[in-house]
Amino acid sequence: VKVLGISGSLRSDSHNTRLLRVAAEHLAPGVELEVWDGLAAVPPYDEDADAEPAPAAVQELRDALREADAVLFATPEYNGSVPGQLKNALDWASRPFTTNPLRGKPRRWSAPARACSAPVWAQAELRKVLTTIGARVLEDELAVPTADDAFDGDGRLADGEQERALAQVVAGLHGHAAELAAA
Ligand SMILES: Cc1cc2nc3c(=O)[nH]c(=O)nc-3n(C[C@H](O)[C@H](O)[C@H](O)COP(=O)(O)O)c2cc1C
Repeated sequence: VKVLGISGSLRSDSHNTRLLRVAAEHLAPGVELEVWDGLAAVPPYDEDADAEPAPAAVQELRDALREADAVLFATPEYNGSVPGQLKNALDWASRPFTTNPLRGKPRRWSAPARACSAPVWAQAELRKVLTTIGARVLEDELAVPTADDAFDGDGRLADGEQERALAQVVAGLHGHAAELAAA
C-alpha cells in the first residue's frame, strides 16, 4: 500500500512536512509513505496550458496521485484557508474532471491533517475542495494547535495524546486503503 504525503507548506523547516515524517513512523508493515516534494514547481493553473502534454511538474503530480492508494495531507492555514499553492496544485490535479486521479477511484482516500495555530478553517476548506474534486475524505483529522511547541527534540509530537491521534489517522487511512487493495 502506497500513501502519498502532501504538505501545504513550502517552508524548509515546515511543521506540516515534519508532521508527515512523524506520520511515516506509524505505518503498518508493508505500507510506505512518500512525501511529495514537487509543490514549488507547479505552475499557476491555466486552462490554456491544461492540454496534452501537461506541464512536467503537473504530470508528475498526477502520476504520483495515480500511483498512490491513499493521500495524507498536512497543511497550514493561510488567512483562513489552505495556502494558494496547495489549492493551485489541487486545481491541476482535478482535471480532467471525470478521470482525475483523486476522483471516483475507490482506492483514493485523503485525510486532512494539519499543524497550525488555529484549528478550523484550513481543514474545512481542504475537505470542501477535496470533496468537490471527488476524493473520498475520511472523517479522522488532527489539528496541532501550537505548532512551535508541538515537536520534541527528537522531532516527534511532544503531546502523547496528539501522537496517538496521529497514529489513529494514519491507521485509519492505510487500513481503508489496504482493505480495498485486497478487495
Ligand atoms: C501568509 C500567512 C497566513 C497565515 N494565516 C494564518 C491563519 O489564517 N490562521 C492561522 O492560524 N495561522 C496562520 N498563519 C500561521 C501559519 O499557519 C503557521 O505559521 C504554520 O505553522 C505554518 O506552517 P509550516 O510550519 O508548515 O510552514 C499564517 C502564516 C502565513 C505565512
